[in-house]
Amino acid sequence: MSLSFEQEVARRRTFAIISHPDAGKTTITEQILWHGGVIREAGQVKGKAGAKKAVSDWMTLEQQRGVSITSSVLQFDFRGLRVNLLDTPGHKDFGEDTYRTLIAADCAAMLIDAAKGVEAQTRKLYEVCRRRRMSIFTFANKMDREGKDPLALIDDVENTLGIRCYPVTWPLGMGDRFRGLYHRLEKRVYLYTKGEDEPEIHEVSGWEDDKISGLIGEALADLLKEEMALLEGVIGDFTSEEFLAGEVSPMTFGSAKHNWGIDLFLNLFADHAPKPGPRRLAGGGEVLPTDKAFTGFVFKIQANMDRKHRDRVAFLRICSGRFERGMKIKHVRLGRELRLAYANQFMAQERETVDEAYAGDIVGITDTGYFTIGDSVTTGKDVQFEPIPRFSPEIFGRLSIKDPLKRKQMQKGLQQLAEEGTIQLLYEAHLGKQDPIIGAVGELQFDVLLFRLNDEYGLDAKLERLPFTVARWPVTAEQRSAKDAIKGGAKVVVDDFERPVVLVEREWDLNWLKKENPDLEFLIAAPPL
Ligand code: G4P
Repeated sequence: MSLSFEQEVARRRTFAIISHPDAGKTTITEQILWHGGVIREAGQVKGKAGAKKAVSDWMTLEQQRGVSITSSVLQFDFRGLRVNLLDTPGHKDFGEDTYRTLIAADCAAMLIDAAKGVEAQTRKLYEVCRRRRMSIFTFANKMDREGKDPLALIDDVENTLGIRCYPVTWPLGMGDRFRGLYHRLEKRVYLYTKGEDEPEIHEVSGWEDDKISGLIGEALADLLKEEMALLEGVIGDFTSEEFLAGEVSPMTFGSAKHNWGIDLFLNLFADHAPKPGPRRLAGGGEVLPTDKAFTGFVFKIQANMDRKHRDRVAFLRICSGRFERGMKIKHVRLGRELRLAYANQFMAQERETVDEAYAGDIVGITDTGYFTIGDSVTTGKDVQFEPIPRFSPEIFGRLSIKDPLKRKQMQKGLQQLAEEGTIQLLYEAHLGKQDPIIGAVGELQFDVLLFRLNDEYGLDAKLERLPFTVARWPVTAEQRSAKDAIKGGAKVVVDDFERPVVLVEREWDLNWLKKENPDLEFLIAAPPL
């Protein structure tokens, strides 16, 4: 039976998994895909000879380093829902990519290594979610290892992240003593055995039920009673409203490696994850997912994902309407019509051509250079979704190449990587577009830059580091770019849109500049054009 337009939109769920590297994101993604029927055997996507190669890791550098750098999109069906899972790079240097991905998602799942608790990177990402009032699920992983006491883990999340946790499941022991999970909402005990996919399920009347000691032994049952008595005293009921407002995070426990608790997490997700909501426009107003006009925005650009194709893909989050292959849309910034002839959805290294998609879905559009991050498209009246802010670069350098005849190639490569958001290009007025200063948010981005210039563009490029650590966009009280001379002797360059940017070596120099130029504000991100 075919579904109506409204039903198709209502069954979309779009989320991103975020975590600290090594918390187990790759492993849990595989388990989720296994439950979603996409892969037959969890672990099958890991490379031979122990080399890590997850479904979503495309690039050679990622494979060499074992880190996931680009974010990819995986789609699967679960309990009648069409789920879009957006992968994010865990490494802190790629926080900006993660941030952009979160903007394209409707909720997030935060994965924590139970032994380590909340790590610095996780804290930052939670903050981003909280500021956007995004709903967050929390999954405490690696319960097969000795970790932090679960009550301490909750304390950790609540205190450092300023969000309340509501434990939906509760671990029955940990490490070698781990027997299973108690589901507080279902009032069930799930017992897990290593190597078996299906848990043994027992209905109980509650955590006080004496039946439980027969299942897991007296010591663990007593511990459960002790912990639950403490919990119930401080934690109220779970309400969907508080979750959707990003005020409380439902927490589940388990082990991605052993497939413990993944089913319970997915069921919780299916019960509570929000369907696509309204999306705010830059000038005020919003677009509803069920609006008939097709709209969307580009949140990611990725070139050369597939060597055989040598292509560039713009990832578009659909915000309203129905996408159809070959449809004509208006590219709002350029004010021109484009035909979306080639659109793909991604599953592992395979691409599937999409014929139709709805709000919440992500489609990859083959792009010949029309799109940049933040561009909006529409089939109705002009819309501009809220801009996606850039992070301020913190490290800087200048590129040199051995072979001067390859300058053109270098410029092409730099432009490409800047459009993908890996680096930011800054120019000195007297040099025009020659020899730009390259800014990045983290070291690993410079590694990616050099690797890709060498690998994809055949350059033998070297990077000379510059001593700056701070970039700021000076604006007047009216938030206009400050075109007049800036006092205090800082280096002033311009960005791609000719907006002045000051570069200084230390925070202290910035404070000096502020004193010297009391009429100006120094913004951490570029002002709107
Ligand atoms: P990431 O994508 O977040 O970086 O983490 P990834 O899934 O690659 O997992 C990092 C390591 O943690 C892997 O070990 C993985 O097997 C392990 N791991 C993931 N989930 C669990 C879990 O529930 N319990 C335990 N004990 N370990 C877990 P590795 O040694 O790097 O690789 P491998 O040799 O195990 O494949």
